[in-house]
Amino acid sequence: MDWHKRFVQQAVWTGPLRSYLFKQSGMDTASRVLEVGCGTGAILTGLTTPAAIHGLDLEAGRLVEARLHAPQAILTRADALSLPYPAGVFDITFCHFLLLWVHDPLRALREMKRVTRSGGNVLALAEPDYSARLDKPDTLVPLGRWQIAALQRQGADTSLGRRLAELFSQAGIRLIETGTLQPGNQPQLTEEERDLEWSVLEADLAGSVPANEIQRLRCLDESAWESHQRVLYVPTYFAWGQ
Ligand SMILES: C[S@@+](CC[C@H](N)C(=O)[O-])C[C@H]1O[C@@H](n2cnc3c(N)ncnc32)[C@H](O)[C@@H]1O
Repeated sequence: MDWHKRFVQQAVWTGPLRSYLFKQSGMDTASRVLEVGCGTGAILTGLTTPAAIHGLDLEAGRLVEARLHAPQAILTRADALSLPYPAGVFDITFCHFLLLWVHDPLRALREMKRVTRSGGNVLALAEPDYSARLDKPDTLVPLGRWQIAALQRQGADTSLGRRLAELFSQAGIRLIETGTLQPGNQPQLTEEERDLEWSVLEADLAGSVPANEIQRLRCLDESAWESHQRVLYVPTYFAWGQ
């Protein structure tokens, strides 16, 4: 599985929202910014700012890739639950598809707030709520259940998105704006993207769902896309606070 390719795909989905929120939060004039859980650098690579760019991730392998994709970034291997920075050093601290993977997301947000200067901005750009996933036609509803079970086995909180605003308040971050990615920004997947979706799903489901059943739903999915009958929507939340 090419995770960078997957992260780049997700980054395309959130592109318009990121442009808006980065502008609103002063990315153009920031001095220091931090992405917590930067992965392979899919977000850092396209960041245009005069600021010193920092990225942090728990996994060394991800940071090796991030070094290639975002050579301008200062990368650190550490845990989001205990950020290795003094208080108040960043103008903007953000994350993207992170909190669902962190076992204590409230603590991670408190840490993000701690390292952000007073009046600075904290952004959680994309946190899905898979429990509200919508699939049409109905024959494809099992895909959502499979995805939730697979993600939960890997340790994800699959409905984190719906608690995001509440978590900001609990962390003492003053909420300025929250919402979901608009369905219009959730793409009609291209054939290549559908292949990628299925690679993720097949890797996740191997051993738990019989191969012939996976193939059966894959065929149904493909023909629904081709006949323009396919609806696939996962509400994905963002929050911006100070
Ligand atoms: C789904 S990936 C998203 C990567 C990147 N933000 C992006 O959108 O392309 C989540 C990343 O969070 C990292 N991560 C998970 N738990 C973490 C933690 N407690 N501290 C730091 N990074 C963590 C993972 O290693 C992974 O690289």
